[in-house]
Amino acid sequence: MNTSLSTPTLSQLIQRKPIDVSRLVVKTLREKGVKEILAYVGKRLKGLDEVVLDILSGLAVGRHIWIVGPVGCGKTTLAETIAEVLNLDNPPYIEVACHSHMTATELTGDIDIAVALQAGLDHPLAYIPGPLVLAHGRILILDEINRLSPYSQAALLQALQEHYVVIRGFRIRSDFLMIATGNPSEYSGTYDLSEALADRMKRVEITIPKRDLLKEIILWKAAIFIKDIDLDIDEKIAEVLATLAHLINKDSKIESEPSIRSCIYALATAASKAWIKGSEEISIEDLRKEVIQNMLPLIQGEFSSDEEKVKYLDKKFREALLIVSEMR
Ligand SMILES: Nc1ncnc2c1ncn2[C@@H]1O[C@H](COP(=O)(O)OP(=O)(O)O)[C@@H](O)[C@H]1O
Ligand SMILES: [Mg+2]
Repeated sequence: MNTSLSTPTLSQLIQRKPIDVSRLVVKTLREKGVKEILAYVGKRLKGLDEVVLDILSGLAVGRHIWIVGPVGCGKTTLAETIAEVLNLDNPPYIEVACHSHMTATELTGDIDIAVALQAGLDHPLAYIPGPLVLAHGRILILDEINRLSPYSQAALLQALQEHYVVIRGFRIRSDFLMIATGNPSEYSGTYDLSEALADRMKRVEITIPKRDLLKEIILWKAAIFIKDIDLDIDEKIAEVLATLAHLINKDSKIESEPSIRSCIYALATAASKAWIKGSEEISIEDLRKEVIQNMLPLIQGEFSSDEEKVKYLDKKFREALLIVSEMR
């Protein structure tokens, strides 16, 4: 078991020694080799080799990373998979799902004054370390970092700048490499990152994969979800979904397009629908419905109602069908 996560006391934490985390990254890169790392990531995500190299080249020199891209393009999975394969400690990473009401003390941890007064500062419950303190010597994943309020961003900045987390005057050493994920700033419910924070990260972008690759991803992942169902998926259906995603992605009226996740599930749920109905193949009408049910909530743009979105999706779906039928 890892002792560094087994509730250290405040005095132990205050005496903690620095850890050169980027050196650990370089050591792993040397030992494993980049091929093995790419192969490991490739078992979960396709087509992101270049992005992986961008991330590793930053981490190897102690640069924090900010993975930016639309919803459902694999940001969180990529951050976790890289932290896992680097395996800097046990556990290899600490992950925080950021939200707009997150307080600075949720990140740093806080001293419970009542416990401290009764049982002393070194009682295991007097101070419960927060993620910024627990991440010492590992990767810290901050998922959806742009949901952090400016107030919490400031707490993070202090840890990044000084390598110390300050809790009511006590300074605790914390060395970690951060992989943050985030949506581009036009998405709702997000804050702009302060310049000081943005300046401390390398921004690595993931974009929607080319159509053929997207088709492959959809087929691959949907097959995993329908593994217990006896139904063969026609490749053409994945082609329609990939074409549809690209048509919408190209449309300048649209601010947020269907995610890879929604494409995968549109196929998997259409397949399970066909199977439940006792049919041997997915009907176009069922696929159309599954497209709407899986993608509607994601589509953002100049629409005044959900009905308009349904009409829009219907239209694009018909266009995609036509394109794919003309391809053969
Ligand atoms: N390039 C890809 N290759 C394979 N699967 C992918 C890819 N991109 C996304 N996915 C799948 O889509 C889903 C959403 O990924 P996730 O990491 O949660 O996205 P995000 O954090 O960007 O919203 C996951 O199940 C993932 O397996
Ligand atoms: Mg995510």
